[in-house]
Amino acid sequence: MAPREQWGTRAGFIMAAVGSAVGLGNMWRFPYYTAENGGAVFVFLYLAMTALIGLPIMLAEMTLGRGARQSPIKALEHYGGKRWMPLGFLFVAAGFLILSYYSVIAGWTVRYFIQAVRGFEGAPADLFGSISQGTPAIAFHLGFLAVTIWVVSNGVKGGIERASTLLMPVLFLVVVGIAVYAWTLPGSGEGYSYYIGWNPSEFVKTGADGGFWAQANVISEAAGQAFFSLSLGMGAMLTFSSYLKKDSHLPNESLVIASADFGVAFIAGLMVFPLIFALGLSSAIGESTVGALFITLPRVFQEMGGVTGHVVGTLFFGALTVGALTSAISLLEVVTSSIIDTFGWARKRAAWVMGATAAALGILPAMSTDALGYMDKIAEGLFLVLGALGLGIFVGYVMKDPVGEVSKGTKGIRWFGVWRTLLRFVVPPIVGFVLIVRLRDIALATLAWFE
Ligand code: PHE
Repeated sequence: MAPREQWGTRAGFIMAAVGSAVGLGNMWRFPYYTAENGGAVFVFLYLAMTALIGLPIMLAEMTLGRGARQSPIKALEHYGGKRWMPLGFLFVAAGFLILSYYSVIAGWTVRYFIQAVRGFEGAPADLFGSISQGTPAIAFHLGFLAVTIWVVSNGVKGGIERASTLLMPVLFLVVVGIAVYAWTLPGSGEGYSYYIGWNPSEFVKTGADGGFWAQANVISEAAGQAFFSLSLGMGAMLTFSSYLKKDSHLPNESLVIASADFGVAFIAGLMVFPLIFALGLSSAIGESTVGALFITLPRVFQEMGGVTGHVVGTLFFGALTVGALTSAISLLEVVTSSIIDTFGWARKRAAWVMGATAAALGILPAMSTDALGYMDKIAEGLFLVLGALGLGIFVGYVMKDPVGEVSKGTKGIRWFGVWRTLLRFVVPPIVGFVLIVRLRDIALATLAWFE
């Protein structure tokens, strides 16, 4: 068997992992969850979730991956025996499912990127209506996935690392650049208070739409968003870490990745809302979450008009496409590497066959945004949460000597005991609670379908 592929450099690994984490979740979901759920109050809750459950799970995935030097299914078998392989299958299923609809949304962003280059015309709501479902959505979904497959088929170093090292710095520059530009616009100030004002009254859900479950939903959304945004609970970080050398410092890497991920999410809101308020379009925000990105922002670029509208719009949707691409790469890599390790297939064949399968599965969400929303509920709402719970329990209770494995490459860190305690006693109850809230939510959504 060929020796296992490896990252070329430490920075290459970081770029790829940050590329996985930074995506549509950061630039689209985070700002809206925050604005809708109490601004700064929600940011603190989100940070707490990241620290208490996100980082421990990330470190758990990295420890498993680097220790076993195998993709998820085999890594779980390596440390836990055959009994634990189903958890690996769950990861692969989650990878397929997320990739299939993620690529549809990414297809929309590519379509918008092209439209931004040309200049937005007509009513953006009509544009969204005409491209989000049906033949155009299918075509762009397939095109986007083809590029993703091509990168993955070129290997860990020659494909994934190279693409991320090239693209991520561009994304950072663009996001920061647009945020600074938005700050200079008159009227942007209100955008900041809308986004991150301290609004406990919006955080605490009372009145007709309030009560226990509404509040529980906000809390579980913060946790779910942390998993989704950090690409946790489905083996992406595990797989990427399986290409690391033993001397890498896992706690440092996980901190860098989580900080970069939060940084981009936070800054994304600093570009979106000030732009919307500066151009006087704040009344259009509340209409819908999808609408916010794909309807309100194109109107912003339209209103800006001229060269500025073209340039800012093109950069914005370009950055979104880049973020989506590097995330999709990691989703496909989980599935691909599992096939390579389990069946001994060549990388090219595995990438194309698995990519084609995800492409076929994605036809459904490309035909119907309702189906897309439901698939997201199942994948992000259920699979990632279950996956994270399983990982926490596995590394916390089943794996022999995780502290010994994680401490390779580090010197004299004393708080690894804290990490293990979090995995054992903090992660399971919080994630278990989130799971209950999510199951209820999915049951309600399913019932609503039959009504
Ligand atoms: N983290 C990515 C984002 O925020 C999505 C993702 C989830 C990627 C799970 C890989 C695995 O968009």
